[in-house]
Amino acid sequence: MKGVILAGGTGSRLKPLTKIINKHLLPVGHYPMIYWPILKLREAGIKDVLIITNSDDIYSFIKLLGEGEDLNVKIHYKIQENTGGGIADALLSAKEFVKQEKFVVLLGDNIFEDSLTPYIKAFQQQETGARVIIKKVEDPCRYGVPHIETEQQKILSIIEKPSKPPSSYCVTGIYMYDQNVFDFINNIHPSYRNELEITDVNNLYIKNNTLRYDVLNGWWIDAGTHESLYKAFTYIQQSRNKEEMN
Ligand code: G1P
Repeated sequence: MKGVILAGGTGSRLKPLTKIINKHLLPVGHYPMIYWPILKLREAGIKDVLIITNSDDIYSFIKLLGEGEDLNVKIHYKIQENTGGGIADALLSAKEFVKQEKFVVLLGDNIFEDSLTPYIKAFQQQETGARVIIKKVEDPCRYGVPHIETEQQKILSIIEKPSKPPSSYCVTGIYMYDQNVFDFINNIHPSYRNELEITDVNNLYIKNNTLRYDVLNGWWIDAGTHESLYKAFTYIQQSRNKEEMN
């Protein structure tokens, strides 16, 4: 399986840190943020990785990561032409790279504890469709929130940044797709924030009855705000201290 990391966007919630530096190049613990999703993919055996970012920033990523030799992975790059066009818009740039294979998508600012291995295994066994990973959070209104039918363990719909969240879970930026994703993206329209929303794509999978989910156990952070970036730093440091003690 291949991996795609989305590392574009404007980083508006982290200004002025992101005025001249792409959010995914900011430090989180002892590495730039982009290292963490790469290491998570590598740990799960995915060594063919596409990074999608803005034209202004791509050379900084190449300077930092090259072809991936330092991290023992193979890194490819693609530009998202429409900066701020949304997650689904960025994903369109992955079509040529993934070809007919199923693939994993990570939002580059999602930092988390769990290994991806069991989720990827489950997706490999899933014939078609998509898989999302959800996590219980204190502030679901900030995210895409699933309406879950617990008995059948089914997501009935996902609402992006709801004022009245249908559950206390958020759909994290860890997604797995088959190649139908590109047709679905071509069938959605820009949202109120003028972005092609990944939530709209996932809702089309639900309509098709092919969206499955897993629940993340360990800590998870969307490090897109000053507060959460600080939290990510702290969690990474704590994990490092724990490893050193063992
Ligand atoms: C995006 C997605 C949202 C998801 C979140 C996870 O939100 O739109 O559904 O829950 O990532 O990090 P954004 O960062 O664009 O506000």
